[in-house]
Amino acid sequence: MKSIRFKFIILISILFIHVNIAKASNYFLIPEPVSVKNSEGNFELSDKTIIFYSTETSKMDAELFNEYLFQYYGFKTKIEVVSSFKKGNCIWLEPEVNKTLAAEGYSLNISPEEIRIQGDASGIFYALQTIKQLLPLTKQNKINIPCYKITDYPRYAWRGMHLDVSRHFFPTAFIKKYIDFLALYKMNTFHWHLTDDQGWRIEIKKYPKLTEIGGYRNGTLIGAYRNSPHQYDTIRYGGYYTQNDIKEIVTYATARHITIVPEIEMPGHCLAALSAYPQFSCTGGPFEASKLWGVFDDVFCPKEETFKFLEDVLTEVMDLFPGKYIHIGGDEVPKEKWKKCAYCQALIKKEGLKDEAELQSYFIKRIEKFVNSKGRNIIGWDEILEGGLAPNAAVMSWRGTEGGVAAAKQNHYVVMSPGSHCYFDYYQGNPKFEPLAIGGYISVEKVYSYEPTPTELSVNEQKYILGAQANVWTEYIGTTDKVEYMIFPRMCALAEVLWTPKDYRSWEAFKPRLIDHFSYLDFHKINYSKALFDLVINSGKTPSGNGVSVSISSDMPNPDVYYTIDGSDPTIFSNKYTGPFYILTNTKVKTALFQTNARKSNIFEQQFYVNKASGKRISLTKQAHEKYNNGGAFTLVDGIKGVIPWYGKEWLGFLGENLEAVIDLNKSESFTKITVDVLGDENSWIHLPKGIKVFVSKDGTNYKELKSLNKEEIIKQGRAIELIFDKTSARYIKVVAENIGKIPEGMPGAGEPAWLFVDEISVE
Ligand code: ACM
Ligand code: ZN
Repeated sequence: MKSIRFKFIILISILFIHVNIAKASNYFLIPEPVSVKNSEGNFELSDKTIIFYSTETSKMDAELFNEYLFQYYGFKTKIEVVSSFKKGNCIWLEPEVNKTLAAEGYSLNISPEEIRIQGDASGIFYALQTIKQLLPLTKQNKINIPCYKITDYPRYAWRGMHLDVSRHFFPTAFIKKYIDFLALYKMNTFHWHLTDDQGWRIEIKKYPKLTEIGGYRNGTLIGAYRNSPHQYDTIRYGGYYTQNDIKEIVTYATARHITIVPEIEMPGHCLAALSAYPQFSCTGGPFEASKLWGVFDDVFCPKEETFKFLEDVLTEVMDLFPGKYIHIGGDEVPKEKWKKCAYCQALIKKEGLKDEAELQSYFIKRIEKFVNSKGRNIIGWDEILEGGLAPNAAVMSWRGTEGGVAAAKQNHYVVMSPGSHCYFDYYQGNPKFEPLAIGGYISVEKVYSYEPTPTELSVNEQKYILGAQANVWTEYIGTTDKVEYMIFPRMCALAEVLWTPKDYRSWEAFKPRLIDHFSYLDFHKINYSKALFDLVINSGKTPSGNGVSVSISSDMPNPDVYYTIDGSDPTIFSNKYTGPFYILTNTKVKTALFQTNARKSNIFEQQFYVNKASGKRISLTKQAHEKYNNGGAFTLVDGIKGVIPWYGKEWLGFLGENLEAVIDLNKSESFTKITVDVLGDENSWIHLPKGIKVFVSKDGTNYKELKSLNKEEIIKQGRAIELIFDKTSARYIKVVAENIGKIPEGMPGAGEPAWLFVDEISVE
């Protein structure tokens, strides 16, 4: 009892200090520190300032800080080994003596006379990153730094960013820039996705063909995967990092307190490797590095010579990368070739394995044994849980959080990177105004809302959640500018999720700080998305239950918004938006943001389809998958149809499961047509339903079937599936759309559960 109350009081006082003091100040640090106190005056930083260090690491920290000063302000401080003779105008980098701070923590005390920094090796570096964010955004050779007392440490140990360099290759200079971005936001892990079907990007001395042949492809898909037929350019595309490049980058990252986790994909996503060494496949090939995105059936065959090859590769990889973890991939491994391979089938028998899933587990376990024998650990995508987890493996949970939860419950370490919040290759704003992305929709607000520790874990199990990271797959990211655009500002939000105490996190507080922070991104000439300023048109219920209520929101402070409902472009003479308004018929809403009477944003428009179901109560027997569930069940009656190219926002997605929805029309109504809007995009594993059934009820309990359509009838209609019948009266309508279940042979994703996408149900 005593200790609980004690903790409670401490918490209250921390909150109190934080809220009151932080509010009074004008800093806009990201991530928000644990504790900030303002004090009087400024410290003057100039070329007269001396930075005192006492360890080689902190000397390097000081040198990096100086490089930054020189780049952005044109001067450097002096750097000297610590001296007992104390002078003014100096910055002390001191190893923490009494060790009261958490790992990677620091204290930063800025007074007019001196700056004192204490912390462990990383902590001292992070204190200097904090100072960088306190510097002015204009070049000056004497800088006033406002005085603060800051105590700070991270919430999670794994604060990561991933980058796929296989689909597109980025030069070493950009990899260093990427590492700089991470360091600026106190991220500490760079997951480098070095191999995949489209290119092998790391020099391996023992197998030179991996880069000579596997490093290049003979063309690249033009445009989006969903467009058919697929068209390709004929430009040979590729590149790779030499072992010298890699050593240079590892040194660069280490100096910035960043660990690189290299990823060598196996047993799938390996066409580039097989193009060079087809003997490690089941069929012998030939193969080529893929010009197309996706998942491919040809994978490594678990032969002795394949293991020898992979062990040789991993030996060179471990010699280059000193970190604890080696990522061995493990995701999206079709089992088709293993099913047909005599060797694989004999191995399944010999090892007493149940099936191909256990063969994958056997594969990963063997690799783990080898990696463990060298004193390292493996981490893999959550598919490595299937068929049994290797004894010491860490799991990267990407298909949702279930994999992470399952692994933590088995006492395995976990890094969270679910597609619901952490995929920075998804759209971050309205696709109409955004560059081509793979699909999906993850706004900066959505990233900020992410809570990496699942509540279903016990306190002890929660310790296995190392942290989280964002994944940056680059199928549609061909330039370094676009990489920057896709990670900013979402990475700023993620950095705060991973660093700042949970109780201090507030979107309402973060949003203005982020908007202020945009000038910091401008100062660093970072290319970032301003989708935060997009106007978002949403709909909700009306008090009468008829039609929908339309709201327009903006993250801009005090926005001046005008709108029209007659199809014309909004001007300052149109309706001024002051709050939600109601619409009862099909209406196109157009809106824009104005400042001093001039239009400052794009024109955003939304067509509303209003019918008897619009705005009504709707319930689902089973909620949509967390990845595609942005608006919940109401999405299906909000009067808004999903856009194509789809980006997740207006769609509900059901993975391997049916849609079963009940709409309550409020009173008995008559109708002759029900339309179910669905999506078919087989390249994205989204399949039209195999059947749709509609039931009606007067009391919400007893239903009778009204109409059904089979697969052929649905395919013929395609998108808006109409069920037409004689005039019927009822209050409750139940709609069942049947998922096809597993994706059939010969189609992308064969054997995996299919997605069913539904965006609207209309009753007329
Ligand atoms: C993944 O996104 N295939 C890990
Ligand atoms: Zn085989």
